[in-house]
Amino acid sequence: MSVEKLFEPLTLRNGVTIKNRLYKGAMSEGMADKAHRPTQELINVYKSWEDGGIGVSITGNVMIDRRHLGEPGNVVIEDERDMGILKRWAEAGKNNGGHIWMQINHPGKQSPKSVSKQPIAPSAIPISGSAGSAFNRPREMTVSEIQEAAARFVTTATVAKKAGFTGVQIHGAHGYLVSQFLSSRDNKRDDAYGGSLEKRMQFLIDIYTGMRRALGEEFPISLKINSTDFSGGGFSFEDSIAVIKKMDALGIDHIEISGGDYEKPEMMGEGEVYFLDYAESISSEVDIPIAVIGGFHKKDSMIHAITHTEVSMIGLARALVLNPQLPNQLKTNTYRDTKLPRLTTKIKALDKMFGGMIGISYYEQQIRRLGRHKSPKVHRNAWSPLFELAKVHGPYALTKRRG
Ligand SMILES: Cc1cc2nc3c(=O)[nH]c(=O)nc-3n(C[C@H](O)[C@H](O)[C@H](O)COP(=O)(O)O)c2cc1C
Repeated sequence: MSVEKLFEPLTLRNGVTIKNRLYKGAMSEGMADKAHRPTQELINVYKSWEDGGIGVSITGNVMIDRRHLGEPGNVVIEDERDMGILKRWAEAGKNNGGHIWMQINHPGKQSPKSVSKQPIAPSAIPISGSAGSAFNRPREMTVSEIQEAAARFVTTATVAKKAGFTGVQIHGAHGYLVSQFLSSRDNKRDDAYGGSLEKRMQFLIDIYTGMRRALGEEFPISLKINSTDFSGGGFSFEDSIAVIKKMDALGIDHIEISGGDYEKPEMMGEGEVYFLDYAESISSEVDIPIAVIGGFHKKDSMIHAITHTEVSMIGLARALVLNPQLPNQLKTNTYRDTKLPRLTTKIKALDKMFGGMIGISYYEQQIRRLGRHKSPKVHRNAWSPLFELAKVHGPYALTKRRG
């Protein structure tokens, strides 16, 4: 099978061109300093992905509010105070002709105890299941807090544009605040922001329309959204299609399909290309480019998805951590399928309990190595990522979490 189609440029509806069909999916790096500024090590990581030939690097989630973090090392942008280093970050992610889009996020109730005493959410509904004990019960947001949060998304996006990022992505997936608003399980409001799907969409629409006004028609705005939440009815596949159609009508440039949340971490499955069918059915219903992420590491699967389905872009996260040169190697036919290691403590019960979270911690460790110009350590030993997690998050670490 030929890789040609993966290297055809893609022109978005606003006229912006992306040099190929491969993008780096957002990965929370946890590499900001204590003041939540990007560090030189973080910039180094983006330089290695950019050198590797990626079409778009979507940054790990950047938080809009330092009172509400997803994890301790998040970058936070509330104003222009860190413009100098933000400019250097943007530059590193585009100096080889690629794009760098900033993923912007608010965790809502998915803010762990290690960083948040009192998370906020559309409704005061705690996270259930085995993941729940890592989080404090959220408080219901007031309408003015909702409006403030939407305005903060716009501010962060405006700073990103000014710093030289070439696009932004609203994180509407994985059970964070935007996806909490969209879900009828998490959002029990009966005001303008809850009830019907249309009202549950209002927070996202406020964010998007605010960004569009501030950023202009030509600036790419992407949305990462779940195909479904896999949790039984809070956000169904039909809901997902309805949201995407609405965003299409409003003029969004790019949609990325994922799935799952802390309770059901489906986005980090061990299988292959698990959201492709969803993405394909969505692609046939709308005109916007649909990007799909989750499980791509084999050359043939990437070629198959881009050649034989309607999806426009292929997302890579874990494979690019282990091999930042992946796009260049594909192009020159020197790529050998990256193997994603199956990490194990060799104690079955532990593996079962902490599986997803060990994976996240392992990949964060490898991202940090890239930042120090070291090559990733490929091994199967889950103890070091497990200890790292306990170090970063303290006693609450040892419950499920994801990025
Ligand atoms: C270390 C790590 C951190 C992540 N952080 C984020 C994040 O900040 N935002 C997001 O949308 N997804 C995040 N994800 C999910 C990835 O973007 C992607 O959806 C998932 O890893 C599946 O893609 P893959 O099979 O290519 O790894 C993270 C994944 C990993 C491994």
